[in-house]
Amino acid sequence: MISSILPTYNRAPLAFVKGAGSWLEAADGSRYLDMGAGIAVNALGHAAPELVAALGEQAQKLWHVSNLYQIPEQQRLADQLVAATFADTVFFTNSGTEACELAVKMARKYWYEKGAPERVEILTFAGAFHGRSSAAIAAAGSEKMVKGFGPLLPGFVHLPWDDLEAVKAAMGPNTAAILIEPVQGEGGIRPASDAFLKALKDISAETGTLLIFDEVQCGMGRTGRLFAHEWAGITPDIMMVAKGIGGGFPLGAVLATEAAASGMVAGTHGSTYGGNPLGCAVGAKVMEIVSTPEFLAEVNARAGFLRQKLEALVAAHPGVFSEVRGQGLMLGLKCLPAPGDVVAAAYAQNLLTVPAADNVLRLLPALNISEADMAEAVARLDAAATALEQKPA
Ligand SMILES: Cc1ncc(COP(=O)(O)O)c(C=O)c1O
Repeated sequence: MISSILPTYNRAPLAFVKGAGSWLEAADGSRYLDMGAGIAVNALGHAAPELVAALGEQAQKLWHVSNLYQIPEQQRLADQLVAATFADTVFFTNSGTEACELAVKMARKYWYEKGAPERVEILTFAGAFHGRSSAAIAAAGSEKMVKGFGPLLPGFVHLPWDDLEAVKAAMGPNTAAILIEPVQGEGGIRPASDAFLKALKDISAETGTLLIFDEVQCGMGRTGRLFAHEWAGITPDIMMVAKGIGGGFPLGAVLATEAAASGMVAGTHGSTYGGNPLGCAVGAKVMEIVSTPEFLAEVNARAGFLRQKLEALVAAHPGVFSEVRGQGLMLGLKCLPAPGDVVAAAYAQNLLTVPAADNVLRLLPALNISEADMAEAVARLDAAATALEQKPA
């Protein structure tokens, strides 16, 4: 008999009743150290006092009015994002997938309004993940995601990862945009090289092709810059954001330059809930905290500490781990066993991690995790790896 929850997830037999910082507590009082942060969402940890206060204050005043009216909290967050980034304008969504939908629509509408309606093709990359809507799965294109869900939205060209020649060869008169995660998350914590991102920017500048960055997972301070593309010293035309921006409240956004957004006039897009006062009150507080140079410097310091410990862990367990990769607090451990087995061994140590493709175990802790908690996490990973080594083959 089907479960009352549609069984699209293989859930761990764990349920949590409360959380604080990087720790979660189950009903029986057992505590788990959370190195997944709700898949890179709880940027400031669980029940961050500043966010609890921001949400609580807003909840007392006003929850929802719809985008038929001005929403001052939305205006404030949009202004913060515009001030901190390349963008001139922002549309708020409730998720990363919805941000993907709008990014695709915006790119196509841009060319339509420019009198080049044939420019509809969007170049995407192997290992990509942009969400689970029909457009987002068509964009990613992997067999696992699209099988059985056809007919797929046409107009996506799938290219090998980090392969400039393939991009050049795929560019043509119908190309509208290039869509890429500067650091692939679900694909296995794979950072695009700075050289590749810069070359994409050059191609975009030469041909007018729009550059879309999906920073749903790698953005909002996760890599040690407010947005990951800043490491490469370039900017996109359109950017998708979600996850960390809401700190745990469902919130996403599409940021764009004035030119890229020029086709999106009144009536061309909408959302009942997108940019609601609750989400934006929390998002504004997250931005206020995460976007400061001091906070980002701390993320980089924490990342250096964690990475060093993980390098030692890999060296100590060559039969379990082969590599540390990633940037900032978006780190991956390439595993020799199936990553699901390592995640399970970590559960036995009351440690939460997240599997990804390419045999990678993801570590995506709260951006304000303490050194003590990071050291504890690595000690628990060490115990998990030892248990795996001792397991009879
Ligand atoms: C890079 C990237 N884009 C888009 C999405 C989709 O976001 P959401 O699950 O909020 O719809 C995800 C989610 O994991 C993601 O990692």
